[in-house]
Amino acid sequence: MGRPAVVSIVNHKGGVLKTTTTANLGAALARAGKRVLVCDFDPQQNLTASLVGRLQYDSSTPTLYDALIAEESLDGLIIKTGTKGLDLVPSAEDFFHAELSLAPVQAREYVLRRCLEKTRRLDQYDFVIIDNSPSLSLVTVNALAVSDWFLVPVAAEYLPLTGLLMLGESIGDIQRKLAPNLASLGVVITLYHRSERICREVERELVRELGDLLFDTRIRVNTKAKTAPSVQQTVFEFERSERGRGTEDYSQLAEEFLERIAAAARGDEAAANG
Ligand SMILES: Nc1ncnc2c1ncn2[C@@H]1O[C@H](COP(=O)(O)OP(=O)(O)O)[C@@H](O)[C@H]1O
Ligand SMILES: [Mg+2]
Repeated sequence: MGRPAVVSIVNHKGGVLKTTTTANLGAALARAGKRVLVCDFDPQQNLTASLVGRLQYDSSTPTLYDALIAEESLDGLIIKTGTKGLDLVPSAEDFFHAELSLAPVQAREYVLRRCLEKTRRLDQYDFVIIDNSPSLSLVTVNALAVSDWFLVPVAAEYLPLTGLLMLGESIGDIQRKLAPNLASLGVVITLYHRSERICREVERELVRELGDLLFDTRIRVNTKAKTAPSVQQTVFEFERSERGRGTEDYSQLAEEFLERIAAAARGDEAAANG
């Protein structure tokens, strides 16, 4: 087995569905037969809470924070979720300290990389998807430095482009200095509501400015997707219908995700063959 493709879900804005997309894209890929590891890299632990419930923290149980600080393998931290083929590296409340604790470490941007190099179970997965906090912190930079791809969810709200341009500049800087293999997988419009004029305006602007970088899939506003995490379910488990709005949206997103990664692999092959 080869190394999995590693994808960071990023946007320095909160509430754009980073966590929801990590969980449901992960579940959609698992339903398509892929083996997926999602990783909670946000001290707010929303991904952990939404998939398995918040972990009862006690200092004697090893956590993601402990593994980072000791630069150890993440093997012992991986747990199963309610979805077959979808596993999780949870975070606990001590992850809040990671930002400060990593600051004085040698080659501090590559701590997660050193942990993953020691993680034997990694080769059991096709994809690792990392849910990041709403900031380009040192913790997020660690995630980007191990990622092959980053994917940006953006809410269909007023003026998303200014934020996207800033994000693009910051990530461009990280690519140049720290992560030359990191590539953009694209931008996904979330919280979309076709009958709202502002959503259609934002969509038009993003189609014009981003071109092919914009996914065709829209993640529509959906009460069920909002409720599912409160009972530790993905939208697939919660809707239990192939015609559910979230089920449709995230299945389509997974299809497009796989197409984009396959197209990039074909491009690499063509380049290698001259
Ligand atoms: N399709 C949806 N429609 C409406 N609200 C949603 C949808 N999906 C998720 N939500 C809710 O939107 C909020 C923000 O989502 P979240 O994934 O936590 O964003 P982020 O991780 O970017 O901060 C959460 O309360 C979540 O439950
Ligand atoms: Mg989040």
